[in-house]
Amino acid sequence: MAGRLKKQAKDALKIIGCGSALFLGYLTASGDERFYASALMPVLQRIVGAETAHVMAVRVIGLGLVPYNNYKDPASLEVHVMGQKFQNPVGLAAGFDKHGEAVDGLYRLGFGFVEVGTVTPKAQDGNPKPRVFRLESDQAVINRYGFNSCGLSAVQERLNGRKNIQSELTKGKPLGINLGKNKLSTDAVSDYVEGVRTLGPLADYLVVNVSSPNTPGLRDLQGKEELRHLLDKVLKERDSLRSENRLPVLVKIAPDLSTQDKKDIAEVIMEVGVDGLMVSNTTVSRPDSLKDPNKHEIGGLSGQPLKELSTQTVREMYTLTQGKLPIVGVGGVASGQDALDKIRAGASLVQLYTALIYKGPPVVKKIKRELDDLLKAQGFTCVAEAVGADHRATKKAATKPQT
Ligand code: FNR
Repeated sequence: MAGRLKKQAKDALKIIGCGSALFLGYLTASGDERFYASALMPVLQRIVGAETAHVMAVRVIGLGLVPYNNYKDPASLEVHVMGQKFQNPVGLAAGFDKHGEAVDGLYRLGFGFVEVGTVTPKAQDGNPKPRVFRLESDQAVINRYGFNSCGLSAVQERLNGRKNIQSELTKGKPLGINLGKNKLSTDAVSDYVEGVRTLGPLADYLVVNVSSPNTPGLRDLQGKEELRHLLDKVLKERDSLRSENRLPVLVKIAPDLSTQDKKDIAEVIMEVGVDGLMVSNTTVSRPDSLKDPNKHEIGGLSGQPLKELSTQTVREMYTLTQGKLPIVGVGGVASGQDALDKIRAGASLVQLYTALIYKGPPVVKKIKRELDDLLKAQGFTCVAEAVGADHRATKKAATKPQT
């Protein structure tokens, strides 16, 4: 009798175990938003370190092992800027797929565009480990990777291998490539020019990254004369590329610039004819609100504590460029409201990275769905109508006659 009961209990446990495994498998494969954000991602993160989790995520996504995604981008989310069509305005920011190893899997997550890099001319290791730190209680990350890169030719070879796939995707899901310089290089300009020459033919847009805080001297390239000289050479190289259409070149700036720096940058980019701005990279500032003990780590801070600073920088750069230049808003985007805040401040497109770490792949669909709902609720038929809306509202309020 006792033996039979024991066997029955064992069988019941087996069934519960299998059932739970199946249920967890279902939640993982179906991309359940709440399961990823409140259970799977926090548990995975506690098991493995931040960099190992990053390397594993790139591998898994690179193998195409991504949750099922049946969301069809609505027409309201389609954006046309820089001569390109973006099926939706939510892109993956630079730094996740530094070496171009997971591009196709990333598109399957629902991103409207993917940015590879930063890529440096020669392969380099980056800074010693540990160099990525999660600030869980702040929903933030501090990184000091320092441009670990496998170099231009390895990325060129990898992207060449999927050139035909990309030429189809490009019709609605452009590919960006983010360029940098080697730490030990004494000629920054020639590093960027080499990047344009080598990877330009494989990109739908290029980003001149002069704002990462982890390469000594890099951010000095945002200075007026340095930037003018650099962009002059970069744009000359871009113009010499043999391609049907002009390849857009964007500049990625830091969120820690002075008012004068921002004015200078706006003046230079308008003068030399850059095609767009990426606002912003990570911040070296440490807001008082930070709670996590990792806040003292050196490096660039991303995620929620960067959100307002980056949105305000978008707002300022939109004003300084008179709304004439497309802006990609990056920094703390984790919801449709965050995306719309940046769009209303002047961004035509947005990107994210840190939200993917905390909320997992389903965050992409969530942002798109919420953004579509918010656009409708605020009376916009499409993203383009909402770009810079805050500036028009302020102007209207200022010119409204007093009663
Ligand atoms: C980054 N970011 C980044 N940016 C860049 O231009 N080149 C790079 O190589 C990297 N590397 C990188 C690594 C890690 C671990 C993080 C978290 C971020 C910055 C990134 O593209 C983005 O600008 C900021 O992270 C702000 O966006 P989120 O993360 O708040 O959505």
